[in-house]
Amino acid sequence: MSERSCLSIILAAGEGTRMKSAKPKVLHQIGGLALVAHVARAANKAGGGDLALVIGHGADEVRKAAARFAPAPEIFVQEQRLGTGHAVLAARAAIERGHDDILVMFGDTPLIEADALRAARERLAKGAAVAVVGFRPADPAGYGRLIEKDGKLVAIREEKDASPAEKKIGFCNGGLMAISGSHALSLLDRVGNANAKGEYYLTDIVEIATRDGLHVVATEASAESVLGINNRAELAEAEAIWQRRRRREAMLSGVTLIAPETVHFSHDTEIGQDTLVEPNVWFGPGVKIASGVTVHAFSHIEGATVASGSEVGPFARLRPGADLQEKAKVGNFCEVKKATVEKGAKVNHLTYIGDARVGAGANIGAGTITCNYDGFGKHFTDIGAGAFIGSNSSLVAPLTLGDGAYVASGSVITEDVEADALAFGRARQKTIPGKGRELRERFAAAAAAKKKAG
Ligand code: UD1
Ligand code: CA
Repeated sequence: MSERSCLSIILAAGEGTRMKSAKPKVLHQIGGLALVAHVARAANKAGGGDLALVIGHGADEVRKAAARFAPAPEIFVQEQRLGTGHAVLAARAAIERGHDDILVMFGDTPLIEADALRAARERLAKGAAVAVVGFRPADPAGYGRLIEKDGKLVAIREEKDASPAEKKIGFCNGGLMAISGSHALSLLDRVGNANAKGEYYLTDIVEIATRDGLHVVATEASAESVLGINNRAELAEAEAIWQRRRRREAMLSGVTLIAPETVHFSHDTEIGQDTLVEPNVWFGPGVKIASGVTVHAFSHIEGATVASGSEVGPFARLRPGADLQEKAKVGNFCEVKKATVEKGAKVNHLTYIGDARVGAGANIGAGTITCNYDGFGKHFTDIGAGAFIGSNSSLVAPLTLGDGAYVASGSVITEDVEADALAFGRARQKTIPGKGRELRERFAAAAAAKKKAG
């Protein structure tokens, strides 16, 4: 099959308004990736070849988003929303280039799996002119029904055009179709709009092909894989299904999830073998976690890289540009942003490290803050290897602390500290013997006088 050339057409013109959103429907996300990008990915994975995206008039946001897909699709505009058959023909120029297989998909059906697309293409390779991906929904209302005769698919009847008997059919059109490239244009060009909706139905090619004596087949996919998104409740449902799949994939690849249903993945999350993820962890986009890492409960991680043997959390926040090298530790209530925590360094409690390097083996005491922002610009703090920063210190950037530097607790450090030096950045302590008792007695007397007077 791999020698067969393929064109994948994703239909994404025609906006429902049920999302109640200023954003085009297909740009809403699951796992942090646009719905239409999920479809493009599945097509790609199924060897979908050239990618064509059909967008509506003025859908500049979709056009812009699609330009960032890898590979970027060729964009076609369907000026008027005249139906799915009409939409496919918006990509006529691409179809005319000649491909063995043409896959048609919907941009709002993000859970399709490459396997279903491959199965449909395989049927073309075996001689079918059209292969329709069917499914059996719990409630078939609203879907096109697959009409079979003598075990052969002969037509698809849309809900509004179906007879009462046809409406009883439970096998429905999932909206994915594989069409033989050599027949596609001849079939599509004969689709008319004499139906209840007055639309050019892509689904009509089944009947046309059957009349031509061509071989038409239906394959079957799971109902969840052809779930179409029309509102935010369905968006959340798709997210849940996608997360469940993704967690399973992670566990089967050797990641331990203690309470998988509480861990949120992004489309590009990478986690190595023997990493343990405790409950209630959020992986935003751009996270790469190596093997043998422990991510403790309630950590929020995005745009971060974590090397093997490291420990994160509980309640840690790793923001974009956080780079934890081998066996680093970032503990509870710590935030790390755009900073490298080198090998074996420890940032254990209640700390903010931003725009910084924490050298190998350094120890950052509780409550340490890198003061990286002066209201206008961000500045860098460079902490040398083996440095020790006493608790509750403020490191005012730009600042360089040499290897082995030692900062006394409670310091405000504004000047560079050379290697192995000890820096105090706080007032010297003054202790006055007996003064504590004197003060207490004075306050007690004042309080008694006030009580008597009142
Ligand atoms: C379609 C199928 C139906 C199937 C169902 C599965 C047709 C005629 N019907 O119905 O058999 O059971 O999907 O969910 O194909 N689009 C365009 N331009 C248009 C019209 C639609 O790009 O002019 C795009 C839409 O953005 C959407 C997709 O095509 O992504 C499907 O269109 P929609 O109107 O939702 O079709 P359904 O009525 O749901
Ligand atoms: Ca639909």
